[in-house]
Amino acid sequence: MRVVILLLSFAAWTNGASINIVNSWDQGFQGTFIVHANHEVHGWTAELNFDAPITSLEVWKGTVTSHTPTKWVIENMPWDADLSAGDDLTVEFIAHASGLQNPSGTYTIKGAGTGSTTGSGTQTGSGTQTGSGSHTASPTTASPSNSGTTAKFDPITSGTSSTGGSTMKYDYGEALGLSILFFDAQRSGKLPANNPIPWRGDSAVDDADGGHDLSGGWYDAGDHVKFNLPMAFSTWVLEWGLLEFADGYKAAGQLDMACDMIKWPLDYFLKCWVPSKNELYVQVGDGGQDHSYWGRPENMHMSRPAYKVTTSCKGSDVAGDTVSALAAGYLVFKDVCSNTAYANKLLSAAKSLYTFTKANRGIYSQCVTQAAQFYSSSGEKDEVSTAAAWMYKATGEDKYLTDAESFYPAGTPWGFAWNDSNLGAALLLYEANQGTPYKRDIEAFLNSYRPTGYVPYTPCGLVWRDQWGPNRYAANAAFIALMAAKEGFSPAENKEWALSQINYLLGDNKLHISYEIGFGSKYPQHPHHRGSSCSTTTTQCSISDPGPNPNLLKGGLVGGPDKSDNYDDRRDDYVKNEVACDYNAGFQSALAGLRYFASKNSLPTAPAAQC
Ligand SMILES: *[C@@H]1O[C@H](CO)[C@@H](O)[C@H](O)[C@H]1NC(C)=O
Repeated sequence: MRVVILLLSFAAWTNGASINIVNSWDQGFQGTFIVHANHEVHGWTAELNFDAPITSLEVWKGTVTSHTPTKWVIENMPWDADLSAGDDLTVEFIAHASGLQNPSGTYTIKGAGTGSTTGSGTQTGSGTQTGSGSHTASPTTASPSNSGTTAKFDPITSGTSSTGGSTMKYDYGEALGLSILFFDAQRSGKLPANNPIPWRGDSAVDDADGGHDLSGGWYDAGDHVKFNLPMAFSTWVLEWGLLEFADGYKAAGQLDMACDMIKWPLDYFLKCWVPSKNELYVQVGDGGQDHSYWGRPENMHMSRPAYKVTTSCKGSDVAGDTVSALAAGYLVFKDVCSNTAYANKLLSAAKSLYTFTKANRGIYSQCVTQAAQFYSSSGEKDEVSTAAAWMYKATGEDKYLTDAESFYPAGTPWGFAWNDSNLGAALLLYEANQGTPYKRDIEAFLNSYRPTGYVPYTPCGLVWRDQWGPNRYAANAAFIALMAAKEGFSPAENKEWALSQINYLLGDNKLHISYEIGFGSKYPQHPHHRGSSCSTTTTQCSISDPGPNPNLLKGGLVGGPDKSDNYDDRRDDYVKNEVACDYNAGFQSALAGLRYFASKNSLPTAPAAQC
């Protein structure tokens, strides 16, 4: 949900609106303001007036150009100067002060210029939701027809066959191996002896609530908070890929690495769920404090509070995703990673957590408000339905299937992402009983993401769902397309479409770079990632340090280009250049799918690059 701000409709000004204070602590606070574009904007200025003096102010989407203790003037960065009519740019900042009780203030925005639309294609008006323009790119390749539901192509004969498997335009196995290393670089806690990331060491080993150990898990993104909602989503999406495309991992020689990788968050979830108390921990670390620190996790010393859902502070969304991670983990360790004792432990936790989830329905971010600014949830039926569907797949017990069907929220999903797991439920339920609603929603989703559908495209062919991390939505949808292909939904078309998206990410784009760090010869050098950007030999480091990140964050998929295929490799641009567990999860499972189909001789020829 976005905050709705009332505006004078005839001007590109926001006059004296209140600054949104998100978080505050002894020595400072975190706030946001919104640059709303009523018309096309080229450059903007924000004037912040605080009720009490501020000693310094950190902001990434702008530069402080002048200030007095109470009045701070911020100007746009080069990369966020241009806004389309309807765009809302939310600007976060951290203010440092001492002895502030109730920080507050107002802001005024001045937008400059009203130049005409440039670039290819028209921009139509936009909703308040995303502020993005309409789909303007016309596909240069023939659009597949999306009407049929049954396989129109024989997957074997439509592929480019050879005795060693289908030809691959890019080495998906290599990209897969790199992505595993990204997750290993996100590890929190005491690292194992076989840690494959040379620049990472132990960190946050004292994460706990009172005496209850909560160390482990994955850092969320470029920061060091452990947010369980996206972590659990990422975990089951990776597990799903491991289950369905295990032969892809084997063909790439990556199965052992993958089993090691996926056990890390599962060990942590087993600590988070306390059945004897009916409590599930869902976050460790305070977003505001964490984001005010730019340094390596190994050198981090701030306090890291833990937050939980209970029978009174309900959160069936995050609990549901954790059930899915545990239940899918059971299948992975039983069938793919051969560790039966561990698998059984996961299943037992999944069962009790499912009971808790079903009995305590609610939206976690309404109670755990510390999560709201970062991973706010708008619904929980999708996660609960998906959890029940995984429980059915794990146990074969009908009661779970009945639940999954009754909780299923029908409709065409906006995307597949940490806040919307509908497509997980739809595909698992379709696999269970070929039900009509599931088939309809899967097809409607896939059609909406095609060049003929309503989701926008960049001119060079990336499906562009949102300005914030478009690569992730494209990769997630590519994974769904490959899963659908495996279930028999227009396999050749769906594989070709998935290839078009993954190939864009690996090099078929305007800049001819790989958006996956470490793949090929040209890739991002300045990802927004604290640990990667700070040398291991110093404790002094800043987001604006010159030069490329000293530690190579292999495998990280960065956010992605703007809607005209432009991208800047800037560390301070966390919209385009951050990495995150949930960005890589669908991407990695899609890579496993492509490698899997290649190993089965059923990968079609890659569509031509559009740029
Ligand atoms: C998920 O987040 C996106 C981006 O903010 C939003 O547009 C979409 O509606 C959200 N989906 C759900 C189900 O809340």
